[in-house]
Amino acid sequence: MLVLAGAGVAPAQEPAASSGDPRAGRRLAGAQCAACHGNDGIAVLPEAPNLAGQKAGYTAAQLQHYRSGERKHELMTVVSQALTDAHIADLAAWYEAIEVQATVPGRR
Ligand code: HEC
Repeated sequence: MLVLAGAGVAPAQEPAASSGDPRAGRRLAGAQCAACHGNDGIAVLPEAPNLAGQKAGYTAAQLQHYRSGERKHELMTVVSQALTDAHIADLAAWYEAIEVQATVPGRR
């Protein structure tokens, strides 16, 4: 079971994502992403998702999908066109580096 789960997960990981530079990603995100996704990755635009703490492999895959047209959105399709693979890896590393904590609401 463990082996099967591992085998299923491995191909989805983007090798580029793990080699990203979070500091470079931070600079790029501050300039190009923060207006909607927030300086800290907590979205300021109501329709934009939070990116803080997101797994780098997931973030990188979404950006590649927007860029290739596999995933479409009027804003993100445009934003992603200018991103190189290195930009995507850096951005994904930056958002993963932001620590988030989840607090499940208690029962009332
Ligand atoms: C003008 C506002 C805006 C800007 C600027 C913007 N985004 Fe987005 N982003 C959005 C919106 C809105 C969505 C939701 C799109 C959808 O429904 O597919 C989104 C979705 C995403 C997603 C998918 C998240 C998920 O949970 O699937 C990622 C990743 C992302 N943005 C990264 C970025 C990065 C990195 C930048 C900067 C290079 C950026 N965005 C710039 C508005 C923006």
